[in-house]
Amino acid sequence: MNIKLKENKDFDIEIILVKSIKDCNKADKKLLKNSGFKASEGETFFVGKILYVGTNKLKNEDLKIAFANAIKAISKTKYTDIKVPLINKNKELNIKDITEGLLLGGYVFNNYKSKREERLINIFIDTKASKYKKSDLQKELNETIAICDSVNLVRDIINTTPEDFTPLTMVEKAKEISFENALENKIFTEEYLKENGMNAMLAVGRASRHESQLIHLTYKPKNAKGKIVLVGKGLTYDCGGLSLKSSEGMVSMKCDKSGASAVLGIMNTLNAISCEYEVHGIIGAVENMIGGDAYKPDDVLVAKNGKTIEVRNTDAEGRLVLADCLCYAQDEIKDIDYIFDLATLTGACIVGLGEYTTGVMGHNDKLKKRLDKAAKNSGELVGFLPYNRYLPAMIKSNIADITNSASSRSGGAITASLFLDNFIKDENKKNWLHLDIAGAAYREKVWGYNPYGATGAGVRLILEFMKNQK
Ligand code: BES
Ligand code: ZN
Ligand code: ZN
Repeated sequence: MNIKLKENKDFDIEIILVKSIKDCNKADKKLLKNSGFKASEGETFFVGKILYVGTNKLKNEDLKIAFANAIKAISKTKYTDIKVPLINKNKELNIKDITEGLLLGGYVFNNYKSKREERLINIFIDTKASKYKKSDLQKELNETIAICDSVNLVRDIINTTPEDFTPLTMVEKAKEISFENALENKIFTEEYLKENGMNAMLAVGRASRHESQLIHLTYKPKNAKGKIVLVGKGLTYDCGGLSLKSSEGMVSMKCDKSGASAVLGIMNTLNAISCEYEVHGIIGAVENMIGGDAYKPDDVLVAKNGKTIEVRNTDAEGRLVLADCLCYAQDEIKDIDYIFDLATLTGACIVGLGEYTTGVMGHNDKLKKRLDKAAKNSGELVGFLPYNRYLPAMIKSNIADITNSASSRSGGAITASLFLDNFIKDENKKNWLHLDIAGAAYREKVWGYNPYGATGAGVRLILEFMKNQK
């Protein structure tokens, strides 16, 4: 899709948003009424050169969803040149919302279809009579396109099958992104993990035919305002290991690389948003498989910081990978301002907050409030899960320092986060937030402007947080 700020006389279709039938052109009302069009959310109707799109409101998420519905209706036709009047019935629409709706709502993943029709759609946003300067509108458009391109890149990565996207593919993608964006990149293989005592991460990947990879990308602007560290869970497949998942539980576990993929997507956008922070993206790319060499329930692992972990469930593997990656991050990077980890960590998070919401946990309520604000501006959904003094007892081990599987399933998202807390240094406790994106990252259904499959959760949220820190 090609989006431009331009008046175009030769368009095929013009998109008009309507809150009720009253907003439609006089001449079309009768036809629309007779056909049962009510202008409610999700409704679209072509009349001549107009596509009427029903919506509740003309801003924010409603607007994005309306444009997602518009582009879906258009993609079923042969039309290619689309006019979007920025002023819709006297109200100026927001460029960012329009663009997100079109680009995120228009995404389709058809890389595995034998027949795919590809048609370039041109969108002309007519900015005539806008109250803003054309250059400001253009800047807003460029930034939003960069963000949406990254979200869609992340979706592509996550939707790619585990056979086609292995830890090594993650390395290739990371290198590609670092070259395109002039980022520093460091790649470490299992030899490094062994030499540096990253035994928890090593154990998870041991039965895979793909070597585990530790990836570290760095974005360094001049006179950086501070440092942000992002750590992503990159399980290119999670079958559960010897604590094997059920057949149903295993389907869609290609999504277990969503945290890492989001980190890549964010790193891919920092130049475009002129991020003023130094940003580090750290990824543990690992495949959790079974085999004679698999790590086992009953094993005790020694993590990079020396803590011992009793393995009671090999399906609680994400926290083992993250434990060592968090240690690596804090050993290598000093004076961290914020450290966020993103992970499809627990099914319990989906049970607790529902399918669409990212679970956020940490020790700093002020920081949580700031992330909440970023979430509201970005359109991503977050919910906060609380720690308390009693829960840490659930991950105590009788033979090691802690166990990777809590004594009961209840509060599973929180106990997973408390496990990670064991690998956060005291000086970083207040800087750290854990984001469990298990529900938000991947659904086998369409919701709003999110497609079937991967959503790209985390990208817009963290980028918005960074923008507000300016
Ligand atoms: N990758 C899963 C979590 C998950 C579940 C992500 C559903 C996306 C959708 C994770 O590694 C896992 O299996 N967690 C276990 C932890 C348990 C064994 C303590 C879970 O949630 O059941
Ligand atoms: Zn698992
Ligand atoms: Zn997992």
